[in-house]
This record gives sequence, C-alpha cells and structure tokens, in this order.
Amino acid sequence: MIRPQNLKTKIFLDGGDPKETKEIIKFLGFLDGQTTNPTLISKNPEAVSRLQKGEKFTKEEVYDFYRGVVKEISALVPNGSVSVEVYADKNTSADEMFAQGREMFSWIPNAHIKYPITTAGLVVAERSIEAKMRVNMTLCFAQEQAAAVYTATRGAKKGEVFVSPFVGRLDDRVENGMDLIKNIVTMYKAGDGHVETLAASVRSMEHFLYAIQLGSDIITAPYKILKAWSEQGMPIPESDFIYPAEGLREIPYREINLLKNWKEFDLAHELTDKGIERFADDWNALIQ
Ligand code: E4P
Repeated sequence: MIRPQNLKTKIFLDGGDPKETKEIIKFLGFLDGQTTNPTLISKNPEAVSRLQKGEKFTKEEVYDFYRGVVKEISALVPNGSVSVEVYADKNTSADEMFAQGREMFSWIPNAHIKYPITTAGLVVAERSIEAKMRVNMTLCFAQEQAAAVYTATRGAKKGEVFVSPFVGRLDDRVENGMDLIKNIVTMYKAGDGHVETLAASVRSMEHFLYAIQLGSDIITAPYKILKAWSEQGMPIPESDFIYPAEGLREIPYREINLLKNWKEFDLAHELTDKGIERFADDWNALIQ
C-alpha cells in the first residue's frame, strides 16, 4: 500500500516497541514518525519481561534502554520524526529538563523532545528553540496552553514545534476531546504556522478519522488503530463524515490573542498535573 494521495495529515505511531513500528510500516507502506512516552517505554516487551524476572533497571540503565529503543525506531523512520520524552515530576526544574532534552536530542538525528506544558516546560521550550532543538509540547488539555506554546516558541520554523492535545483523556472526563483539536487548529489558522497540531491520546477510529477531517497536521495513533485503518483500506473521511460526540460535553472555542507573552496565560490544568504524575510513576516503577 502507499500513502493515500489526498492525505495531508502526517501519520505517527504511538508506541514504545520497534517491532510494532516495523509491522505498521509493512501494513501502511509508509509512516511519518513515532511518539514515545515513559508509560509506553515501560510497556516495551523487553522492559516488561525484565521486570517480571524481578530485574529492575538502574537509573543509568533505563536511559540506555530508552536510547536503544529510540535508535531502533529512528532507523526505521529516518525521514520522519521520533518524539522522546524527558522525565519530569512536579519538582523537576527547567535546568534538569533542559539537560535531559539536550542529551536525548543527541541520541538520534530526527528527535523531537517532549516537555510538559508547565511553566518550567515552557521555559525549556524557549531555550530549546534557541538551541535549535525541536520540541513536542505534551499533556495539552486546554486551548490556552496551546496558545502559550505558540507564543513561547515564536521564531521557530515549521517542523520544529509540535503541540500534543490529548483527546482520549478529556473524553474520559466526558468532555469532547476532539473539540480541543478543532479549537487549536482553528486558533492556529490566524498564526504563522510554526506550531503543528499533533492529535494524541487517540483511542478510536472515529478520533482518527475526525482528526484527519479537521486538518490536524499530525496524528499519533496506537498500533491497533493503524492496523485497523490499513485493513479497512486506509479510508479518508468524506466531507459528510460526522463525528459521533453524543454524551460528551462541548469544549467551547475561545478568542485568544496570540501576540501575548506566554507568561500571561493560565497554564494550569488538572489533567496536566495528573499526566505528569502518571508518567513519572510508570518511569520510576522501572528503576531499582
Ligand atoms: C503521545 O504523544 C501521548 O503521550 C499518548 O498519545 C498518550 O495517550 P494515552 O492518553 O492513551 O496514554
């Protein structure tokens, strides 16, 4: 199979196992990149079997392991992008995140470094862009957070900055996560295009198809969904496709001034805090 001609959205795999990457490339005939995170790395079969034998990693070993996984994935999508996430808990400083980001950026030639959208994360995003590192700002749950990413990374070129709004985790709270994608894509239309919207936490074919219809720049989807999409012949939604949002609360669009300084935006979101905690817990569970 080859990439559908009318597909403008880039398709990434969301996962931490290079075996999945290989298979998806075989199924689709193309793959534009991959996103990883601490939870996904903790689910890598090799990590799982190690833990089952009671052999946890040392701090150094776990980074070596992550690097090995990322290198393998990078070689499979040499012309794409691979997102690598720093370890961050609520006490991790901007300096600590930046040091990790710099190290991870040197692992492979096509990395985007994932930082959480917090004050420290945005300080680091600014510094990373200055240092010519590409970033993927993660755990985005609010339009205002995406606005802050835009203003903090002003001056970056297209392709250097992604923002990752998490659809499924908003749906879990009965909020229509796809509205967040729609709102960010709409808001960014008034901008200079330097930030690309990467639809994340995609849990269903409906999420996937609607993100294409909305014109999300990138979608990252788990193995199961990309496999199902290939089995269905890689459909692109028709213009009459209607996303079934029944039972989900609408997230209204807000008019936000993209010329503001990012420090003026309210960055706080409960799900960002919870997400940071979960990623940190899953990572720490790997370590002795
Ligand atoms: C990818 O960049 C995200 O970390 C991932 O899509 C989160 O998905 P989840 O909400 O299913 O954990």
